[in-house]
Amino acid sequence: MANNLLKGKRGIIFGALNEQSIAWKVAERAHEEGATFVLTNAPIAMRMGEINKLAEATGSTVVPADATSIEDLENLVSQAVEILGGKIDFVLHSIGMSVNVRKGRHYTDENYDWTMKGLDVSALSFHKVMQTTKKLNAMNDWGSIVALTYIAAQRVFPDYNDMADNKSYLESIARSFGYHYGISDNVRVNTISQSPTMTTAGSGVKGFNEFINYSEKMSPLGNASALACADYCIAMFSDLTKYVTMQNLFHDGGFSNTGVTQEVIEKFSN
Ligand SMILES: NC(=O)c1ccc[n+]([C@@H]2O[C@H](COP(=O)([O-])OP(=O)(O)OC[C@H]3O[C@@H](n4cnc5c(N)ncnc54)[C@H](O)[C@@H]3O)[C@@H](O)[C@H]2O)c1
Repeated sequence: MANNLLKGKRGIIFGALNEQSIAWKVAERAHEEGATFVLTNAPIAMRMGEINKLAEATGSTVVPADATSIEDLENLVSQAVEILGGKIDFVLHSIGMSVNVRKGRHYTDENYDWTMKGLDVSALSFHKVMQTTKKLNAMNDWGSIVALTYIAAQRVFPDYNDMADNKSYLESIARSFGYHYGISDNVRVNTISQSPTMTTAGSGVKGFNEFINYSEKMSPLGNASALACADYCIAMFSDLTKYVTMQNLFHDGGFSNTGVTQEVIEKFSN
């Protein structure tokens, strides 16, 4: 299903850890659609070496960067412009991590050092990425920047823990930075709120298997897959969505607007 939607476009893709990663699927789809891009991830994630397979398959270069480090981001963005031979048209921020979630710390008993770390990695890094591309004047006019988020930013999902707060902050950054970036460079900034998806980050959440089944039954179209999410990202990077900015876009099979489904009601009938 290649339509050359990103022909001639250059990008930076954060967060492809393994084949399950949403960013991995985005990279594969962006390649099919004619884009060239740099892949990046935290130096520690590179040790697994998986990303090199993706780089080979998509003809892209890997530039390691910890998304919380301004120095790393400056190096990444300037290298990307050089490697790709011009300014950037799209950026995918596909990064999330909570130390409290990882270590099973309850929301009402947070370790605040861990909270700050998770906030920096999952949300503030989005601001840092955009501040860096803006300062280096690295984005082309009408470029598109997307970060991935989850509906726990609006509704309570108890086991999502402090990631819910991180996602709220992330979505707010998209609105605020989107305003300034729109005025200065016609760059659009959005978040895509994706269905629960079986990935390394996703399955780190307690009770994820049960939850993904519940979500499937609560979504008229069913849960959106990682590949379907990648398709939506491609649409957002393409020239077909030029006036969409500062939005949180639900990509969830209808979950966000569903109160209850017949299937779920039937589970409670005696
Ligand atoms: N899986 C789901 O259910 C789901 C649902 C909605 C939204 N999302 C979001 O999608 C995004 C991608 O997650 P995924 O599900 O593909 O999982 P994933 O584990 O494959 O991706 C998370 C990525 O974040 C990277 N990362 C962590 N710390 C970093 C740092 N300091 N610098 C740079 N990169 C760093 C990891 O190396 C990894 O590649 C996340 O923002 C996640 O919250 C996931």
